[in-house]
Amino acid sequence: MKPTRLTIALGLMLVAGVALAKEDPTNPAVLKRVQVMRAMKAQVTILGGMAAGKVPYDAALAEETAAAFSTTADLIPVVFDAEEDDPASDALPDIWYYRGEFNQKADRLYKAAIGLDWKSARGLAASMNAVNAACKDCHGRFKM
Ligand code: HEC
Repeated sequence: MKPTRLTIALGLMLVAGVALAKEDPTNPAVLKRVQVMRAMKAQVTILGGMAAGKVPYDAALAEETAAAFSTTADLIPVVFDAEEDDPASDALPDIWYYRGEFNQKADRLYKAAIGLDWKSARGLAASMNAVNAACKDCHGRFKM
């Protein structure tokens, strides 16, 4: 089977994940939510690279990555549903006391993700701002 652009992108994501990995949580529920975050970081790196012209714009890769990114972003409320902790976690306990606010911030990211204009590098550059702002917004409130 010929590797598709997406399998190549996923392969790169795995390599990047290994290189960037800090200490992994041992609690599987915490590991899962951290992996969701790392996957989004890899997806945003691909899209942001094209937006900034660091890598050549590729419409098929942009469309596939944007779709995968929305699917991943949609998992945030699911993987944070259970109140789980781990010594390696950077999650603040406020997540479970202010779940409505947390889910609102997750929804803000999901809306930005489905609003990505992947049809050109210029469109990506403009629509990535809302994505980056949504990541920062939640981290500033709910992550150490
Ligand atoms: C609704 C809240 C929320 C949003 C939105 C969010 N994050 Fe996170 N993120 C967190 C929390 C909470 C943690 C800490 C999780 C833990 O360590 O248990 C985290 C951790 C991370 C980590 C560290 C993972 C590791 O290796 O420990 C990365 C990278 C990350 N987020 C990237 C992103 C990116 C990129 C986006 C936007 C595309 C984003 N996040 C959006 C809440 C959010």
